[in-house]
Amino acid sequence: MRELTLDLGERSYPIRIAPALLAENDWPAFIAGNQACVVTNETIAPLYLERVLARLDGKRVSVVTLPDGEEHKTLSTLNQIFDRLLEDNHTRKTTLIALGGGVVGDMTGFAAACYQRGVPFIQLPTTLLSMVDSSVGGKTGVNHALGKNMIGAFYQPECVIIDTNTLATLPAREFAAGLAEVLKYGLIADLPFYNWLEANWDGLLARDTELLAEAILRSCENKARVVAEDEREGGRRAILNLGHTFGHAIETATGYGRWLHGEAVATGMLMAARLSADLGWIAEEEVERLAGLLKRAQLPLKPPADMSAEQFLGLMARDKKVLDGRLRLVLLRRLGEAIVTDEVDQAQVVGAIEALR
Ligand SMILES: NC(=O)c1ccc[n+]([C@@H]2O[C@H](COP(=O)([O-])OP(=O)(O)OC[C@H]3O[C@@H](n4cnc5c(N)ncnc54)[C@H](O)[C@@H]3O)[C@@H](O)[C@H]2O)c1
Ligand SMILES: [Zn+2]
Repeated sequence: MRELTLDLGERSYPIRIAPALLAENDWPAFIAGNQACVVTNETIAPLYLERVLARLDGKRVSVVTLPDGEEHKTLSTLNQIFDRLLEDNHTRKTTLIALGGGVVGDMTGFAAACYQRGVPFIQLPTTLLSMVDSSVGGKTGVNHALGKNMIGAFYQPECVIIDTNTLATLPAREFAAGLAEVLKYGLIADLPFYNWLEANWDGLLARDTELLAEAILRSCENKARVVAEDEREGGRRAILNLGHTFGHAIETATGYGRWLHGEAVATGMLMAARLSADLGWIAEEEVERLAGLLKRAQLPLKPPADMSAEQFLGLMARDKKVLDGRLRLVLLRRLGEAIVTDEVDQAQVVGAIEALR
């Protein structure tokens, strides 16, 4: 088993990575009381719920099975969790257990932050994206009609248990979308990891479990390091948004669901790399190299054909990362080192978008 700790003083927690952890690891020891509530969705329940419930023998356990989909990541769906907790008389000593991808994890974490002003929760992520990103770092919440993730809290779990066996059932597009976020860590902060990913890319695409466990570990280590430095995104944590300002524009323009988040981030990272090369910060070949990796993963290299550069700028200006009206972008100062800057000309941003269209 691979293990690391997210270091946040008294709120530190372990992240464990290995095959068959749901069935074999002693994670149920993180449930302090005799009550628990498993939150999952209708797709994941038939696959993995039984495995989890089998570990909770002797406890009073409730199950909430949410509808599947980002469109259900709302306050009204969240109420289903509170309804069940109250109907089944869960006290402040209960533990919530998130079994699923980022949608289930974000919602369960937020429910845990709110229920009786805060109860403990455990993350059992089942998508690659949730294993390397959303389950780690304590951002929880739901969407509002006027904006994604606009209602939420910083709230850390007791532990993150990553059973790599669950990746076997993940649809191919979801898997590739998660790999985009894995590449992100190499690009922003870990050049040796980026080189390693490139060297092992075929094996990762074939879902080699040993390679995946290593890639997840390195991703979580990178995320944990950034979060430990800047838990509430006062500064450095923003580098985790490489490609995201461009990507959110694509997600918004196409309507949520057509492009997966990781797909939009992939194209967004390529735009950020293009712009970084235009500024003379990274070599031209590095843009090609990134494009090659994305292509091999069948991730998109071009924005939607009908999206103009003006539309990008308009949507990017509304992104929540914009401060004081200046466009703030995460770019690559060099390969393996991201910076946040608001000193790039709009004309250059337009140039980078046009270059990829
Ligand atoms: N909290 C954070 O820091 C953070 C970071 C990044 C993303 N997010 C959030 O995460 C969400 C995206 O997460 P996601 O990409 O995991 O999407 P998701 O939770 O919607 O899961 C993707 C799809 O895969 C299915 N699925 C999950 N595990 C499966 C498995 N093992 N086998 C088969 N199918 C499976 C799900 O039911 C769903 O249909 C977004 O809401 C995003 O805002 C949060
Ligand atoms: Zn992301």
